[in-house]
Amino acid sequence: MTQLKPGVYWVGAIDWNIRNFHGYVTHRGSTYNAYLVVDTKTALIDTVKTSFFAEMMNRIEAIIDPQDIDYLISNHTEPDHSGSITQFLNQSNATLIATPAGQRGLRRYYGENLECVTTKEKPSLFLGKRTLQFVPVPMVHWPDSMVTYLPEEKLLFSNDAFGQHLASSKRFDDEVDSAILMQEAKTYYANIVMHLWAPIRRALTTLQSVEVDMIAPSHGIIWRANPAQIVNAYTKWVEGVWQPRVVIVYDTMWGSTGFLAKAIADGVASQGVEVEVYKLGAANQTEIITSLLDARAVLVGSPTLNNGLFPTMTGFLTYMKGLKPRNKLGAVFGSYGWSGGAKKEAEAILTATGIDVIPCDLDVTFRPTTDELQRAVAFGQQVAGQVTQS
Ligand code: FEO
Repeated sequence: MTQLKPGVYWVGAIDWNIRNFHGYVTHRGSTYNAYLVVDTKTALIDTVKTSFFAEMMNRIEAIIDPQDIDYLISNHTEPDHSGSITQFLNQSNATLIATPAGQRGLRRYYGENLECVTTKEKPSLFLGKRTLQFVPVPMVHWPDSMVTYLPEEKLLFSNDAFGQHLASSKRFDDEVDSAILMQEAKTYYANIVMHLWAPIRRALTTLQSVEVDMIAPSHGIIWRANPAQIVNAYTKWVEGVWQPRVVIVYDTMWGSTGFLAKAIADGVASQGVEVEVYKLGAANQTEIITSLLDARAVLVGSPTLNNGLFPTMTGFLTYMKGLKPRNKLGAVFGSYGWSGGAKKEAEAILTATGIDVIPCDLDVTFRPTTDELQRAVAFGQQVAGQVTQS
């Protein structure tokens, strides 16, 4: 069994096989972290996905009879954490506690008759020697989200915040490769909560007022040795801090938009500026958005198909628009046969995303000419200049 602090246990589940978490490519799997706080009274904090209920119960039963659990704390309604609530309540006498929004959401998922005390009625819970304090953090990740703080242990159960989709037989940050851990934390931030930077920033401010020496998120590895590492990373990410780096995302029908992408990349690189090139399909949207999180510019290339955007690019731009990357320059290039359309559509989406669109006249007919490829190189050089100056 895994003990975080005396009487505080991890009783979650490891999902080694998940590779797609509602569109997020989870190439290292994930975990659903539930925690047990054993005191005079005992509380279970969150559950696991429905299909992992037995795994969670096996871990709980190795520590305590589930009938002896007094409280079930639901930090968040999303079914990766609430999915086993009804099964658990059927096998225990626990009182369910959630935020008022959590109560509403849980009743929609699991039945209007679900008994649930709200944190408005019970903002904290004295367990005998230690206390659970409930801190609502709306929109980190849903309106119902809260974190639970155990002040006597300086332990924060942070739910979705500070998580990573990372399946491992290890539970703590000092037991895993730090570079992999931070890369997965960055991927998680970029693809799950990047657009929620304002509520996360507010939550970080709240966090400054409490002493925390361990952060136990609801996915992945627990920050035991260096919780400041992930707090500092979030502090940087919410501010939209960027590097002078250019991300080029394109798709191509017959190679023409691809030729332009490579010529632009050559132009950027010729100025000593880092550039990353992603072809949709070869690369997935999860890794592209992660790269974009702290890049300065995104250059989008699409052929015109049926007078509009190439369908793969429509999907990517829709995903990016929802995640609202901050402080970005952008531009659109592409190719068409006899009437364009993709470029105008993509520029409108970039503008709606809040990206500062750089004018670009690289929209070529059929194959780019030598002159057009030279202009693409020059455009890359121009963008390189802009990302290093701004
Ligand atoms: Fe891990 Fe928003 O659920």
